Amino acid sequence: MFELPTATSGLSGYALLDAQLQALLSGERDFIANAAQFSAFIYHELPGLNWAGFYLYKDGGLVLGPFQGKVACVRIPLGRGVCGTAAASRETVRVEDVHAFPGHIACDSASSSEIVLPVLAGERLIGVFDIDSPNLNRFSIEDQQGLETLVARFVALTDMPE
Ligand code: SME
Repeated sequence: MFELPTATSGLSGYALLDAQLQALLSGERDFIANAAQFSAFIYHELPGLNWAGFYLYKDGGLVLGPFQGKVACVRIPLGRGVCGTAAASRETVRVEDVHAFPGHIACDSASSSEIVLPVLAGERLIGVFDIDSPNLNRFSIEDQQGLETLVARFVALTDMPE
């Protein structure tokens, strides 16, 4: 069984998650395998989530990719919802209360807060990584910074799709 580095390494928080992610993805660069692992890793290692996964940029819109959680909407146009907004702006969108976000797409009515991070390979938009929580205001600025580092690590350790 694969064993992640533990807190005995002296690391904690996002620094520990980053070390664990590097161990998890080392030796494999396949996009689907690593994207699936990344989704499962985030979903199970961060407390208080009900969904974590990718929407991939394809044919001018977003299409559901590897994820953990309940079944979700498959296609999201650029500029629509939290995911489409993050993809169009290529910037992280952090939403304290999804019910107050104009155009939020409710895949699971349990979701209360959300963070969506762009996945970029240099200038190229690969898609977004979307994380939902049933708790209001689940994602802090520290979470945003930590998660941006983890997404960048995923991109560095993975062959991006054409
Ligand atoms: N809430 C997202 C849609 C995707 S689901 O949360 C999995 C949005 O507004 O883009």
